[in-house]
Amino acid sequence: MKTLLVLGTQWGDEGKGKVVDFFAQKADYVVRYQGGNNAGHTLIYENTPFALHLIPSGILFKNKFCLIGNGVVVDIKSLKEEVEFLKSKKISVTGRLFISQQAHVVLPYHILVDKVSEQGAIKIGTTGRGIGPAYADKAKRIGIRVIDYLEDENFEDLLDNALSDKLALLSASGVNIKKLKSDICRDRKDLVKFLKPFVCDTSLMIDEAIKKNKKILFESAQGSLLDLDTGTYPFVTSSNPVAGGACTGAGIGPDKISSVLGVVKAYTTRVGEGPFVTELFDKTGEYLRQQGAEFGATTGRPRRCGWFDAVVVRHSVRVNGIQNLLLTKLDCMRGIKEIKICTAYKYKGKTYTEFPASRIIEKNAKPVYETMPGFEESISKIKSFADLPKNAKNYILRLEKLAQAPISFLSYGPKRQETIAIKKGVKLL
Ligand code: GDP
Ligand code: IMO
Ligand code: MG
Repeated sequence: MKTLLVLGTQWGDEGKGKVVDFFAQKADYVVRYQGGNNAGHTLIYENTPFALHLIPSGILFKNKFCLIGNGVVVDIKSLKEEVEFLKSKKISVTGRLFISQQAHVVLPYHILVDKVSEQGAIKIGTTGRGIGPAYADKAKRIGIRVIDYLEDENFEDLLDNALSDKLALLSASGVNIKKLKSDICRDRKDLVKFLKPFVCDTSLMIDEAIKKNKKILFESAQGSLLDLDTGTYPFVTSSNPVAGGACTGAGIGPDKISSVLGVVKAYTTRVGEGPFVTELFDKTGEYLRQQGAEFGATTGRPRRCGWFDAVVVRHSVRVNGIQNLLLTKLDCMRGIKEIKICTAYKYKGKTYTEFPASRIIEKNAKPVYETMPGFEESISKIKSFADLPKNAKNYILRLEKLAQAPISFLSYGPKRQETIAIKKGVKLL
């Protein structure tokens, strides 16, 4: 059995799409296990970048199976648009895209509730895709699953039940509930036709594939600091991007995960609200945003940028059981004279070396930095670790020491081929 789980170690956008596309070369199946179309995973196809939101990042290879697990929340309209977009690029998904019958669907009222909730006391800065409300319905046991959406007998009753729960909130926001319901029922006719051929028991499919010794890649969305349990609550998403989420979200046992690879950006970014101890508000922050083209792949929002936070990444290594790290976007740091790394936090005279749970500490802590010299040389043509400038090598070695996991791979550009193994003997798939 060979499976590999790829996840983000920071606040998302670490480059998971590119990394999954890279490892997909060797995989037979690629499985998304949580999140929804809040994700934006960038791939390069025929020299043009584009973002996938729901479809696993293995889809560019015409012979790979791509599965959307039960832990994902699926906006069927958005999925249909994505399938049509791929078709326009001559990438067919027929016979190789599968969606769990137990995945929950995101419906228009989730999007409305998401917008209204953002006007409440705590603004999260969500992607506005209805993700939180869809997961909330799932937990409240009033959600509609893919299988429920397909079954005519029950659908309207389930819809009424889900809507009645939101009646006060939606009415107060001026939503015409009758029209909302009839629009959902009208759209459903077409969407059921579209959806049906893709639906199956993906957990069973994965199990059968593993028994046939197929190679499986599990693709996380978001990042460990956006995880509902291990992240900067409440400024998180509503699912579990961490490795444990793959068990519940793909319907597999923990014994089916051969190894966990953490994708880590050479600096830190975050989109939306919430604590960010190493955030930069100066020209270095702007430099990183420009060099790294740090604008959201889903919402286009400028990403907040800051120095590498080793407290965050060490936390991620622990909560995910990460055995290897893949460092991305080191190329974007070229030209910075002095690079800072955050090794701990300070709050009210106390030093924190582990990520704190207190929102007060997370918000007010100051970073403890160490400084290293940067590098001026281009790294776009490197073939091995030895080819890197000395200061870049030292930076990598220091990061892995602080993160307490080996940086075994390096990505130095957005293209698939701009990726190398930098540790001997590490074969993940
Ligand atoms: P994801 O959500 O983790 O898949 O990441 P995104 O796709 O949202 O954001 C990562 C961005 O960085 C995308 O535009 C990628 O094309 C780009 N990218 C990924 N790895 C590298 C890298 O090593 N160097 C550079 N310059 N860009 C990269
Ligand atoms: P990928 O997979 C970065 C952030 C939002 C917001 C919070 C909650 O591309 O790394 P949500 O819409 O999920 O309820 O928003 O989570 N967020 C992401 N940030 N990358 C993502 O996905 C994200 N998905 C959600 O900005 O702060
Ligand atoms: Mg992204």
